[in-house]
Parts: sequence; structure tokens; C-alpha cells
Amino acid sequence: MKLLFLNGPNLNLLGLREPQMYGRTTLAEIEAQVRKRAGELAAEVDFRQTNVEGELVTWIQEARGRYDVIVLNAAAYTHTSVALRDAIAALGIPTIEIHLSNTQSREPFRQNSFITAVCVGQIAGFGPASYVLAVEAAVTVVEKAKSR
Ligand code: DQA
Repeated sequence: MKLLFLNGPNLNLLGLREPQMYGRTTLAEIEAQVRKRAGELAAEVDFRQTNVEGELVTWIQEARGRYDVIVLNAAAYTHTSVALRDAIAALGIPTIEIHLSNTQSREPFRQNSFITAVCVGQIAGFGPASYVLAVEAAVTVVEKAKSR
């Protein structure tokens, strides 16, 4: 089972960035937590970050045939990107939307997501644990697909 974790803009600054909102854990530390849980569940992980919208689109397109599930924290592009939405819809790989913060409890512009409707589900509001929960959700998605 292969999982592709994609992280959007400014998530490279985790640990420094608005710690009252996003905590002090760095993205590298979150990646380590993801790899640990994935190892326990016999899943392989690729984990990437970019500040460039088009790069996320390209990585989603290239995932075809290579990954079972995409886990996406699109960060600010969640609220702006029709291109990401279209890439997820075109690809057909189950995609899980994640956020560290509970976007529904924040500013109105964060309460709209362009990608939720084309994702299998969303995990938000648990800080770094959102990522670990996504590993478990991804395994569930793959097992459910196999049992059909
Ligand atoms: C975020 C929430 C987004 O609204 C914001 O733009 C981010 C991080 C989160 O993980 O809570 O950059 O995706």
C-alpha cells in the first residue's frame, strides 16, 4: 500500500508559523510521526511539500498507477484552487483532505473548500494528529475498496 502525502504553501514554516494556531511541531517532525504509524500498518509513504500550486497539480497527475491514496493538506490553495479540484477529480485516486486547524471554526474564507467535494473525506482540527489519523483513514479506504 502506497500513500502520497502532499503539503501546500507555508507548511514548510510549521514550528515557526503562527504557533498559537499551528503549534510548535515542524513538518519534518510530522513526517516522522506519519512514517512511524505507516510502518506499523505496513504502508509506504512519500511525503512532499511545495509552495507552488502547479507543482501540486503535477504531483497529483503523476500519482496515477503509483499510489493507492493521496493525503492532501492543500493549505491556502484549499480555499482558492479550482485547478487542484479538477486534478483530483480527473485522477480518480481516493484523496483525503486534511488540515491541522479546524477550518470550519475560523474565518469565513477558510470555511469554503474547493476540494472537499472531490475527496473521500476530511480530517481537520487535530493538529499533527490529523496527519496520523489520515494514515489510518487511508488504510481503511484501501481495505474497503479491496473488499468490494
Ligand atoms: C491549513 C488551513 C488553511 O486555511 C491555511 O491556509 C493553512 C493551513 C491547516 O492545516 O490548518 O495554510 O491547511
